[in-house]
Amino acid sequence: MRRTGNRSLILTGATSGLGSALAQLLSVSGSYRLVMLCRNERRRAELIGRFGADDVHYVVCDLAVLESVREAAAELNNAVRAGDLGPIGSVVLNAGIHPGRRPGSAYGGLDSTMVTNLIAPHLLLALLSPSLDAEARVVFVGSGAHDRRRWWTGLPEPSGLPLAQACLPGALGGPQAYVTSKRGTVELCRAYSERVPDDYAVLSYDPGIMPTTGITRNMNGLSRWLFRSILTRFENSEGFSTPERSAGWLHEFLTRGDTAPGLAYAKIDRYLPWPTASSTEAARVLYHETNEIAGITAGLVAPWWFEAGCPPSD
Ligand SMILES: NC(=O)c1ccc[n+]([C@@H]2O[C@H](COP(=O)([O-])OP(=O)(O)OC[C@H]3O[C@@H](n4cnc5c(N)ncnc54)[C@H](OP(=O)(O)O)[C@@H]3O)[C@@H](O)[C@H]2O)c1
Repeated sequence: MRRTGNRSLILTGATSGLGSALAQLLSVSGSYRLVMLCRNERRRAELIGRFGADDVHYVVCDLAVLESVREAAAELNNAVRAGDLGPIGSVVLNAGIHPGRRPGSAYGGLDSTMVTNLIAPHLLLALLSPSLDAEARVVFVGSGAHDRRRWWTGLPEPSGLPLAQACLPGALGGPQAYVTSKRGTVELCRAYSERVPDDYAVLSYDPGIMPTTGITRNMNGLSRWLFRSILTRFENSEGFSTPERSAGWLHEFLTRGDTAPGLAYAKIDRYLPWPTASSTEAARVLYHETNEIAGITAGLVAPWWFEAGCPPSD
């Protein structure tokens, strides 16, 4: 087990599905001081009921609202500065939504699926970057949904629109906003890996199709039935998983002492070559576009955020 001392692990989306399974494993292993971000006070109360108030730190953060992300990051950075929380050893950007076929709702003039799945987690990581410790691990949960071989899912291809246009309310239908945002997580991981200190590890993680989670909540009745009644039969097939299995592998990644630094792409329980759907150049473009939309400037972030390559941290 990796020795993390009093280091903190920031986890989004602990209330359900993959994040819930990972939170359970982390709370049992005790390998980090666990910090769970949840969308509102009701969710916080639910999490306290499950994990208690002593060992876990809770912060309200609605990822559909960028101002909420800024407030949560300020609260966390202040807690680290004051010594109430140990330095941040890991950030797991797991929360996500699939809006179903409904047009995505909008807040602050931006499509909420694009914000929740892509812009807000990126902003959160940016604002927390000054509090990241040496050998930090950054995980962004993506999806294989942009993979063309998944034609049978009925999902469209990711949009080729510039990000600012793709984020306009109504520009993309719900399923396309989902796949576009999820491919974006893969690109952003590539961009992070070009910039983070050499001793950090960045993981772009596809947990596989996990039919039992809440990700279907906004889908129509037929799709929900398909996931619950049919796809659950394939849980042991290639490309499918359960939240427990995918969380188990992720827990190993976060807690093993010998995780190689650098960039990795993994699906369910193994490392894989980089998906052909992404490229280094596309990653650079998206990184800058996302910084602009989220209002990220040099004074808010660690020096490496705006440098391509930097020396290892002390
Ligand atoms: N299930 C699959 O087949 C599958 C496949 C590939 C990738 N993924 C990815 O895996 C990750 C976890 O999804 P899951 O399948 O475990 O789905 P899930 O059960 O629906 O969990 C999603 C989590 O995200 C949180 N969340 C959603 N919107 C939020 C917001 N505005 N602010 C804060 N938290 C918010 C939810 O909180 P609430 O409880 O408050 O709603 C919940 O904890 C997602 O990134 C998803 O895209 C899933």
